[in-house]
Amino acid sequence: MKRTNVAELLSSDKFLQEVTLKGWVRTFRANRFIALNDGSTINNIQCVVDFENTDESILKRITTGAAVSVKGTLIESQGKGQNVELKVSEIEILGDCNPEEYPIQPKKHSFEFLRENAHLRIRTNTFSAVMRLRSALSFAVHKYFIEKGFYNFHAPIITGSDAEGAGEMFNVTTLDAEKLPKTEDGSIDRSKEFFGKTTSLTVSGQLEAETYAMALGKVYTFGPTFRAENSNTTRHLSEFWMIEPEVAFNNLDDNMDLAEDFIKSVISYVLVNCKDDLAFLDTRLTDEDKSKPAIERNEMTLLEKLNFVVENNFKRVSYTEAIDILRNCKPNKKKKFQYPINEWGADLQSEHERFLVEKHFKCPVILFDYPASIKAFYMRLNDDGKTVRAMDVLFPGIGEIVGGSQREERLDVLKQKITALNIDEDELWWYLDTRKFGTAVHSGFGLGFERLVQFTTGMGNIRDVIPYPRTPQNAEF
Ligand code: 4AD
Ligand code: MG
Repeated sequence: MKRTNVAELLSSDKFLQEVTLKGWVRTFRANRFIALNDGSTINNIQCVVDFENTDESILKRITTGAAVSVKGTLIESQGKGQNVELKVSEIEILGDCNPEEYPIQPKKHSFEFLRENAHLRIRTNTFSAVMRLRSALSFAVHKYFIEKGFYNFHAPIITGSDAEGAGEMFNVTTLDAEKLPKTEDGSIDRSKEFFGKTTSLTVSGQLEAETYAMALGKVYTFGPTFRAENSNTTRHLSEFWMIEPEVAFNNLDDNMDLAEDFIKSVISYVLVNCKDDLAFLDTRLTDEDKSKPAIERNEMTLLEKLNFVVENNFKRVSYTEAIDILRNCKPNKKKKFQYPINEWGADLQSEHERFLVEKHFKCPVILFDYPASIKAFYMRLNDDGKTVRAMDVLFPGIGEIVGGSQREERLDVLKQKITALNIDEDELWWYLDTRKFGTAVHSGFGLGFERLVQFTTGMGNIRDVIPYPRTPQNAEF
């Protein structure tokens, strides 16, 4: 008989239908009640075993984690807690699970412990809910852009250019570190590299996306990106996924409109389509909050927060206004910031971003027109000669979720920047060509997918929203 999935069955009212279910035992109570989960939904289905007519040897093997196939009839539930249940007529153990060895017991485990068992943590309610949401968000991203007439463009993963100019890249090499080929002057002979030159894993697909936007008009990439920064925070990964739209003829205002509409749209999508998982995560966060001191508790529940973001305008504030607010704010005057704000030009740290979002404006904020000196080379210089058309979207609990800009489309200005920053012009000849041949105003941004998943699921640590996190000193699994 064809396998039915639990999600389908739980919403069915076709009683007395005969079905076969396959899944994993979450719990087995009183030699009678199996809570069965097959991953299709956060909810288990209760399967009632006729223990008097089932072999003792089989009953013993129905343990937490075991894979089973059950055949039975759907009936209206006799007990509390569920509407339907399965009256089991046949049960087969597909894969045993030794309870002495199985790490995932039906009790509360710490997220640290589960991170060490990342290959099994997906069998818990929390992680299955997070990963189903991650999947739904990924679908919503593609749906949004394709419906808006964007083309999905696959940026290369191996690259010869450092898009962000920050030098935080992982080298890609096949050379033997013990026997490096040398040139006559004793330096490493890079022409012997696999690609005939130094290459790295990409930090961003933006530069390539710009070349595509200049032909296809509206494009987006959604792929893995890599940063070799030594940041051990709850918001940084060495390997993360980034969504980068790039649009010809868009200026910075259009770019901000796009970012805001896009974020609201994907969050709305999961509010409508992932109700059970969100309800579970909402309760989880509320419970977690109860164990925290009052000042650390969230002011809103997860669902309130998501609805708030969808229903309210993001506040747009220039960097200069933000610096004025920060310079005069209480925590700055009382020397509570680790990095005090003294003057215009200071780079904003996450403590400042979070103050603006969580304490001052109490809503998502888009900061724009940053000092040129703290932003990447490709951003368009304003007429004041000192700020660039950059924008960062800041979110409560997360800080920066989006970074983007209007791009410098003027060849001469771009070349001056590249020279001033000592960037090798020869490496970027193809990028500069877009400014030579039919250049135009264009803009784009990058949204860190894991930060979006973090916000949407209410998870505190970014390592808990990606299946197998890569961070400094850690690439297990
Ligand atoms: O601000 P970033 O560095 O911008 C860029 O890479 C641009 N080239 C994007 C563009 O305009 N096309 O990164 C964009 C976003 C950040 O706002 C953040 O959400 C996320 O990527 N991000 C990270 N997420 C997890 N771990 C890290 N180490 C991250 N670094 C950046
Ligand atoms: Mg940034």
